[in-house]
Amino acid sequence: MSDPSSTTVKKVGNSIGLIRVLIILATSTIIILVLWALKASQQDPYIQTTLSLKGSADKGSRIFRINCAGCHGITAQGLVGPNLREVSKRLNDKQIINQVVKGRTPPMPIFELEPQAMADLIAHLHSIN
Ligand code: HEC
Repeated sequence: MSDPSSTTVKKVGNSIGLIRVLIILATSTIIILVLWALKASQQDPYIQTTLSLKGSADKGSRIFRINCAGCHGITAQGLVGPNLREVSKRLNDKQIINQVVKGRTPPMPIFELEPQAMADLIAHLHSIN
């Protein structure tokens, strides 16, 4: 026969444990949310502006022929650089912008395009998908 008071102590102990776990879970969720919000607010303003603009695939096609076709081919079929016909299935717009304006993978050069020109270029890349 167990002593009723010791069972009560055990039960209270268990719920304190549960409350601790819940508090830890809630705290970590809040920390993750705050970090996520901070990261979102620090997003590159160039990328934000570009993504907020509506691009023209026609103008983008011209920009592509002048700047990109030399390496990626006139119909984006791939030459020195890879085929870009289905690039927007592989990469999201943010990744494409980073590739073009930050030049993360030489020999592809860094391009300094106005956000509108970048938006046009993205519209073009979507249109050849
Ligand atoms: C001097 C040659 C050159 C020019 C000009 C060039 N690129 Fe590239 N590009 C490359 C090469 C080479 C790669 C592959 C880099 C790697 O990942 O090794 C590449 C990769 C890319 C990728 C990533 C493809 C993928 O599948 O990951 C994109 C997107 C891209 N280029 C877009 C452009 C656009 C848009 C332009 C014009 C504004 C441009 N490039 C101009 C050479 C070039």
